[in-house]
Amino acid sequence: MTTRTIPTEFARTRRTRGSAAMRALVRETRLDPAQFIYPLFVTHGRGVREPISSMPGQARISVDLLAAEARELRSLGIRAVLLFGIPEAKDAVGSEGYAVDGIVQQATRALKDADPELLVVGDVCLCEYTDHGHCGLLTPRGEVENDASLELLARAAVSLADAGADLIAPSDMMDGRVGAIRQALDDAGHLALPIMAYSAKYASAFYGPFREAADSTPAFGDRRGYQMDPANSREALREVAADIAEQADIVMVKPALAYLDVIRAVREATTLPVAAYNVSGEYAMVKAAAAQGWLDERAIVLETLTSIRRAGADIVITYHAKEAARWLSE
Ligand code: PBG
Repeated sequence: MTTRTIPTEFARTRRTRGSAAMRALVRETRLDPAQFIYPLFVTHGRGVREPISSMPGQARISVDLLAAEARELRSLGIRAVLLFGIPEAKDAVGSEGYAVDGIVQQATRALKDADPELLVVGDVCLCEYTDHGHCGLLTPRGEVENDASLELLARAAVSLADAGADLIAPSDMMDGRVGAIRQALDDAGHLALPIMAYSAKYASAFYGPFREAADSTPAFGDRRGYQMDPANSREALREVAADIAEQADIVMVKPALAYLDVIRAVREATTLPVAAYNVSGEYAMVKAAAAQGWLDERAIVLETLTSIRRAGADIVITYHAKEAARWLSE
């Protein structure tokens, strides 16, 4: 009788790494552009395509260019967009965020006209619309007023729903906003409209380029009073549980790459779909290194998007969506 020196498990593992077909057969995680959400920054004006310097390849675009954008996304198999707006004017209460003819409301209508099947996700937050750049209202002493902010966030959600948004995504991190938005949507007759909650949103330096893009850097202070401490992961599960109790339909972890462990923990804690936001700073780092020739952009992007899916995200919000879709189809 011969004695086995190589454990069976080990030998089997090696055989499944043989040909491309064998690797494809046993692959655990696949990337599908239908699971990407592509963020878009919309701005006032006509024929505007204003590049965002810290996010090469991304631009602030005007509403009249959105139909062409929708066609391109469809041809790439990307079926969802997440809208952010750059308002005409900012004020203390973020009025354009919930105006009937606000920039995102206009963009939503234009996109749904251009392609009714495109899923339009409306980001709900005040920071793009307030002159102080915070995600909620401020007290005279400059503190964020959680409860008073809820009413305005709910108004923003309803106005986006009225404009035709398919999914409402509150990114403000005020306590109780998912419940307040759900109630307001129901009262306005949008009973079937789902909510994707930015549940575990960390106070992260990776949002830097986004704040340039949306001109939403807080005028003073930071967002640590309402966004999460990067040191905490159990707290993420409490935030997720609270949002689920308030009837979130999809929960999100943001950013993605420095928080893959949190994505995994959230995946294991809920049966709801989990989204992960591969944010602006993560994108900018890859673009910068690729421009220097220091990284192979295609390989890096597909590897990182795969790792976000492998960690447990069903949905990936990413600025790389178009390029990744192109590479995946090759
Ligand atoms: C608004 C919001 C932010 C992002 C999405 N929604 C910025 C922030 O919280 O400061 C960041 C997205 C990115 O960095 O790509 N609250």
